[in-house]
Amino acid sequence: MVGIYFSGTGNTKHCLEKLLQLLDPEAETIRLSVSDEKAILERIAANDTVFLAYPTQFSNAPYMVRDFIKRNKDVWEGKKVFCMTTMGLFSGDGTGCSARLLRKYGATIIGGLQVVMPDSIGDSKLLKKPLETNRETVRKADERIEAAARQIRETGKYPREGLSFFAHLAGLFGQRLWFYRKTTDYSKKLKIGDACVGCGLCTKQCPMGNLTVSNGRAVSADRCAMCYACINTCPKQAITLLGKKVYEQCLFDNYQ
Ligand SMILES: Cc1cc2nc3c(=O)[nH]c(=O)nc-3n(C[C@H](O)[C@H](O)[C@H](O)COP(=O)(O)O)c2cc1C
Repeated sequence: MVGIYFSGTGNTKHCLEKLLQLLDPEAETIRLSVSDEKAILERIAANDTVFLAYPTQFSNAPYMVRDFIKRNKDVWEGKKVFCMTTMGLFSGDGTGCSARLLRKYGATIIGGLQVVMPDSIGDSKLLKKPLETNRETVRKADERIEAAARQIRETGKYPREGLSFFAHLAGLFGQRLWFYRKTTDYSKKLKIGDACVGCGLCTKQCPMGNLTVSNGRAVSADRCAMCYACINTCPKQAITLLGKKVYEQCLFDNYQ
């Protein structure tokens, strides 16, 4: 088996690695990025079972994940896929959003797991929680993943969270419909503020290759995957997307 993940701030990476560590310590995990796409496709082609993990974005799978699935539709034929999503609060059918696409391209969905983790939107004051609350969230998430792995190992049955018709309705009407426009393409709205010193760290974080440094400043093109990796690691807190100011740089490593 192989694990492919999209992760901006490390939550999804952690959850996928933890699950696979418990199921198959030999399994390899790879971060989804445009620069590694060829290698990722080769790994998928070489494995029968794929664990695909990503954060919920507006009750949807990130556009980058859906785009990757669609652009490479032939690679999914005959694969067994387990979909996993992490979320700050509510997902509905976060796993179902990729599962339906994957089924269309010939994959069999073996299960789904939706795990609450700390929120990754660092430029929204409303979503910020105390460190202790986030640590407790991670502790509970770890317990859920351990329980899911136990169930899979002991009964051979995979959890099926987010895959039902009811979950589909919950995701659609709970949030996805109202934010639909935000998830139909890559975002053009990443803002680089005057505090940018052109250090280039953000260019290394971006899975889309959407950032470059020009004349001593970071420059964003129009293909932001909204992962928040650059926003949450910029040493000058100069980058924003949904908000206007960075309130907290959310990174999974801070909750350890
Ligand atoms: C653009 C964006 C949209 C999000 N939308 C949702 C959402 O609809 N529901 C939710 O519960 N969490 C939402 N979140 C929170 C993330 O899904 C959550 O924090 C996730 O664990 C981040 O994972 P990562 O660290 O692997 O990127 C959103 C985060 C971002 C950046």
